[in-house]
Amino acid sequence: MKRLTAFLLAAMLVIPLAGCGNEPESVSEPESSQSSASETVSAEPEESSPSGQDEGVGDEESETSNILVAYFSWADNAVLAEDVDAVASPSVLAPGNVQELAGWVQEETGGDIFGIRVTDPYPSDWDDCLARANQERGDQARPALQEQVENLEQYDTVFLGYPNWWYGVPMALLTFLEENDLTGKQVYLFCSHGTGGLSNSVDIISEALPNATISDNIFDCYEEEASSSQANIQSWVAELGYTRPSAPENNEETAEAQLSVTWDDNQVIYALNDSPAAASLLEQLPLTIEVEDYSTNEKIFYPPQTLDTSDTPTASGGAGTLAYYAPWGDVVMFYGDYSENPSLFELGQIVSGEELVAQMSGTITITASSALRIS
Ligand SMILES: Cc1cc2nc3c(=O)[nH]c(=O)nc-3n(C[C@H](O)[C@H](O)[C@H](O)COP(=O)(O)O)c2cc1C
Repeated sequence: MKRLTAFLLAAMLVIPLAGCGNEPESVSEPESSQSSASETVSAEPEESSPSGQDEGVGDEESETSNILVAYFSWADNAVLAEDVDAVASPSVLAPGNVQELAGWVQEETGGDIFGIRVTDPYPSDWDDCLARANQERGDQARPALQEQVENLEQYDTVFLGYPNWWYGVPMALLTFLEENDLTGKQVYLFCSHGTGGLSNSVDIISEALPNATISDNIFDCYEEEASSSQANIQSWVAELGYTRPSAPENNEETAEAQLSVTWDDNQVIYALNDSPAAASLLEQLPLTIEVEDYSTNEKIFYPPQTLDTSDTPTASGGAGTLAYYAPWGDVVMFYGDYSENPSLFELGQIVSGEELVAQMSGTITITASSALRIS
């Protein structure tokens, strides 16, 4: 049983009290629990580390980034006991859900990562952690933090991650917001939670940050889906207009052409290959055009001019391929398998939003963008 299920079992017993206000309340024992693991901006490339701030804030490399990824997660705010019996003694396990999400946000943005850490770690036992968190909530406590962000002024954008704790946020998050002045900064929230969803967390954070701009586009995921949320994080970050940096050392950086397809609030991004066909499509952008269904695996549109298919490879990449069918002069976005065909030329491959292609309809806007590529 996942920890939130256990949380809910406990919460069912205390909800009537919780609804009465902020009085400290005792937490009933759950049957069992264990941890398991919602503008284009450029940032300096940097190695990512889902594990915390050790390689992040304050490092020489980080000084050029304007993006901070700050997060709180139980797993790095508890003493992880190696000999925990997770059946008899439900306990925290690493990596934490928000910790994992934060690592992916960092990968996608190239920002500096900062794990919010209390000086007095939380119990690794589920029930004990619930009890202390609830006590802190009732007391409106501000648990002391190990450190503050260095050079906060260098960041104009902050991705702030947290778990839902007791229908709100861990009180340590409020300590962080009070000790690190985010006035004037753009803030993006991401949250992992149980069935409580975001609960009151956004209101609480908004109240604590009256002078920051908090985006309505908040990423949130159910705790049991956190560990499989990397693609969703990628789509979210792309939606916000951030392009993924690349950072291998001693390699040459070149610009990789990308094509963005947007409709309603959706976005799909393709990385284009170096072919003349892809280049001749790029020359026609931006385009606002009708997309059509074809068969059960294709979305197609007709660019105004035919593409130059000389020296262009035939398409073979399966679902996610962007292709050009020369006899008809249409560009094809595959969302299912297809048969190779000598007249079907590959233009590129999807990099984000693959799950959205099948739902594409109506008027779409196609624009060109670029991302760093290491050769
Ligand atoms: C002390 C505590 C209180 C929690 N309270 C809630 C809650 O009120 N609502 C909810 O949906 N989930 C609640 N959860 C579950 C967490 O939000 C969820 O498991 C989250 O994915 C944990 O992220 P983390 O592993 O990064 O700490 C609580 C968890 C803990 C440890």
